[in-house]
Amino acid sequence: MAKIIDGRELAKEIRAEIKADAEAFTAETGVVPGLVTVLVGEDPASQQYVRMKGKAADAVSFNSRQITLPADTPHDELLGLVQGLNADPEVHGILVQLPLPDQIDEDVILETIDPAKDVDGFHPVNVGRLSIGDDDVLAPCTPAGVVEMLVRYGYDPKGKHVVVVGRSNIVGKPLALLLLRKAPGGNATVTVAHSRTADLGAVTRTADIVVAAVGVPETVTRDMVKPGVVVIDVGANQIEDPSAERGYRWVGDVDFDGVSQVAEAITPVPGGVGPMTITMLLKNTLEAARRQLAAGQVVEGAPTR
Ligand code: GUN
Repeated sequence: MAKIIDGRELAKEIRAEIKADAEAFTAETGVVPGLVTVLVGEDPASQQYVRMKGKAADAVSFNSRQITLPADTPHDELLGLVQGLNADPEVHGILVQLPLPDQIDEDVILETIDPAKDVDGFHPVNVGRLSIGDDDVLAPCTPAGVVEMLVRYGYDPKGKHVVVVGRSNIVGKPLALLLLRKAPGGNATVTVAHSRTADLGAVTRTADIVVAAVGVPETVTRDMVKPGVVVIDVGANQIEDPSAERGYRWVGDVDFDGVSQVAEAITPVPGGVGPMTITMLLKNTLEAARRQLAAGQVVEGAPTR
């Protein structure tokens, strides 16, 4: 049976490190890292994510503020809010939860966030920096969490063939770029496969490491991996399950039971990549605060609430 790569345990460990670093930073500078999350509408999953992000930020001694706006908020109002947060020296990280309602132009909103405060790593400037191999970029949280898990569990991607299944802007593409960097956690040989890849199994069977990020339950099955593979499952799919208390359960993009019989190591769902994503958000926020202070943008002051 495969070794379990425990995202909850690892996240706990890293969050303790971030908390100690944040407290030392505040003691030294008087600045408390500030994270603002913005949620438009009432999608229950988004509400839960935003709540978890706020709680995680508070737990590592940051200032966190959640701004919730009605689903019919006009584009210009959200734009104005983001511009205000850009100008607020106590706010070091801005996260606008996606997806946004139809009347709002998501691209314009993401491009309006100051790249220095873009703790999601979604601004085109940060995407561009990542693509040219800038080591100091604020990297998107889920891909950064995947790399961190591999490295901390002793599965350094350097020299390995990593097959990333999925080509989204949030996970697949930025993960491929991180893995390609000439930097710690990079130096991999990377193949990006996706929904139109012919004979996906033939591709994934050549992988030393498979990362599944397609959003389709149990896409990667036992016959599609080679023995000894390391598997990271980014999927978080709710499927109906009448026997479960809530009527549903979470499954990943990997058939866990089958693949774990042949893999060297595998992440569970839940308890794998999910907790690492929020952890990387905290890391980015502290890093953003450090850089903004160094750049002289931060005015020492009272907490934001
Ligand atoms: N919606 C789903 N995942 C994410 C994420 O990582 N960041 C933001 N802002 N919205 C999301």
